[in-house]
Amino acid sequence: IDISKLRGLSGGLITIDPGFKNTGSCQSEITFLNGEEGILRYRGYSIEELADNASFLEVAYLLIFGELPSQNKLNKFYQDIKEESHVDEEMKKILDGFPKSAHPMGVVSSLTNALIAFNPTSVNVDSEEDMYKAIIKILAKFPVLCAWALRKRTGQPLDYGDSNLGYVENVLKMMFKKPSKDYEVDPVVASALNKLLILHADHEQNCSTSTVRVVGSSHAGLFASISAGVSALWGPLHGGANQAVIEMLEAIKEDGGDTKKFMAKAKDKNDPFRLMGFGHRVYKNFDPRAKIIKKSADEVLGKLGVEDPVLDIAKGLEKEALEDSYFVDRKLYPNVDFYSGIIYRALGVPTDMFTVMFALGRLPGWIAQWREMRLRKEPIGRPRQIYTGENHRAYKDISNR
Ligand code: ACO
Repeated sequence: IDISKLRGLSGGLITIDPGFKNTGSCQSEITFLNGEEGILRYRGYSIEELADNASFLEVAYLLIFGELPSQNKLNKFYQDIKEESHVDEEMKKILDGFPKSAHPMGVVSSLTNALIAFNPTSVNVDSEEDMYKAIIKILAKFPVLCAWALRKRTGQPLDYGDSNLGYVENVLKMMFKKPSKDYEVDPVVASALNKLLILHADHEQNCSTSTVRVVGSSHAGLFASISAGVSALWGPLHGGANQAVIEMLEAIKEDGGDTKKFMAKAKDKNDPFRLMGFGHRVYKNFDPRAKIIKKSADEVLGKLGVEDPVLDIAKGLEKEALEDSYFVDRKLYPNVDFYSGIIYRALGVPTDMFTVMFALGRLPGWIAQWREMRLRKEPIGRPRQIYTGENHRAYKDISNR
């Protein structure tokens, strides 16, 4: 490397770290992650304990405000959310403009951005009180938009759910209530979704969260930052992997179930195919979330009486990968997305809604990270580059090119 090229115009030395593999972008008190040992904690509490004992709303409160809430605080928090759960009727016109075939992630990202037009005071948040109001609004309205995206996709009329239900139960009702039929929340389904949402709630400076922080660092506002986070999450290398995993498992099944053939493709450096749901930037050991989800997949499918042949294919792939030197040497283990789609499917969630469910879970993490960034008055996110293009060139008239 020519060290002189690593100097920016202002003369200082610039570090190059494509993909930010070794660059810390902030200091944070929210989520602790030890990739070597497979440890994940929110505000000091282990993910295993939270997934077994907490409600998603408690975890949201914990992530955003730093402490587990007392019952009174939790009640007030949820009451505030319920009071903001309407979405302006005019927003339905925007929803109507999408084709039924639109991917729900695109719909949710667009609608989240559109919310700004209907809630303009949520943009300038100079006090903690303003921040709180914006946070409550997005926690209340985002699930409605996610449910709208699903109902649009499935051609169902929109539903605002039932404010007597818990946050997660209400999400289920808004999504799955059939017209002119009562909706009974299945406790097995609600508890499985509660767990999945908790497991997805934060994961420090991943791609979508970094996006939320960078967009928010220009003071663009919470809703714009969340909308950008949804777009970043959509990609198959990030949250979109949960959809890609099921599609891959289905493809293996359709092909006759030969997992070895797909393992070979994943290892072939001339083939762009990757084993979706495997590998992680930080975990070089088991992703603790994947361990919990794998166990939960068995339980949920058992309790719901669902038999899904792709669960066996997934387990077979995992077993082979754990014994294969390519995966062992590169420390590639199943990540959070490997088994989550199998549970979503058992709960009745269509495949292209899987990443929306992830977004719903990640929402409190995005909010917490945005809030922390604003409270710490972090500077605008603005990485540098090393210019490798042409030197100065004289402009040529079009007739001479
Ligand atoms: N299948 C086959 N090979 C893989 C896989 C995979 N899933 N993941 C990584 N590798 C290989 C790479 O080809 C590379 O091999 P090399 O050293 O011979 O060149 C090595 O392992 C390191 O991989 P990188 O791509 O450099 O690792 P990085 O940290 O940049 O990427 C990522 C991490 C994007 C998660 C990657 O493992 C991947 O693409 N996985 C599949 C998609 C996926 O499941 N994404 C969800 C991640 S979890 C989340 O975001 C919620």
